Amino acid sequence: MAHEITIAPSILSADFTRLAEAIELVEDAGADFIHVDVMDGHFVPNLTIGPPVVKAIKRVARMPLDVHLMVSDPDRTAQWYVDAGADIVTIHIEAAVHAHRTLRAIRDGGAQAGITLNPGTPASALSEVLPYVDQVLVMSVNPGFAAQSFIDSSVAKIAEIARMCREAGVNPRIEVDGGIDPLTAPRVVEAGADMLVAGNAIFGAVDPAEALRGLRRSALLRMV
Ligand code: DX5
Ligand code: ZN
Repeated sequence: MAHEITIAPSILSADFTRLAEAIELVEDAGADFIHVDVMDGHFVPNLTIGPPVVKAIKRVARMPLDVHLMVSDPDRTAQWYVDAGADIVTIHIEAAVHAHRTLRAIRDGGAQAGITLNPGTPASALSEVLPYVDQVLVMSVNPGFAAQSFIDSSVAKIAEIARMCREAGVNPRIEVDGGIDPLTAPRVVEAGADMLVAGNAIFGAVDPAEALRGLRRSALLRMV
């Protein structure tokens, strides 16, 4: 059964000196989650924030924190983000050596567990972990930066993952991240995505609140 379409603005494109205001603005405009991009300068060629900032964001956010760990050692560090107040912690399948153990530790810590994969990683890489996750995040750009171009083959990958979930009898949220805007959103929703991350399309807009509402309208056009 399909979930409702949810939208998770990525604060990577917000003004880092005014994060509380940015979060309040998108929450008032109807955001469902706040997407927090953690980059370690090693797994991806960029460096962002760590547990102290996640903890600070948790103090001001009303919506759940969807923490996307782009780090080389999630088996060791995922717990830091559970402890910092993340509601969802998503790890990369390419980086987790002991994915089941780490996913279980995230759940045991009281957060939801997510798994994600880079554009170059096939959907089949997820087959063993699908029963153990609350969400699957399909990266539709190579992670590291905001405002990159959507990779078209992501649409077929989302459809394949949706099919794998049906066949396995599991129903995680299917989230998509990278290059999501009013043109790409309907395509990924039609393929089976139900949670949309958007950075530049929201915070790069002159009116972020209206951009968020426009993104939701575009996504609902294709909802089945
Ligand atoms: C990419 C990050 C994304 C990014 C999306 O490495 O994981 O969450 O902020 O940005 P846009 O929506 O601008 O592609
Ligand atoms: Zn992300």
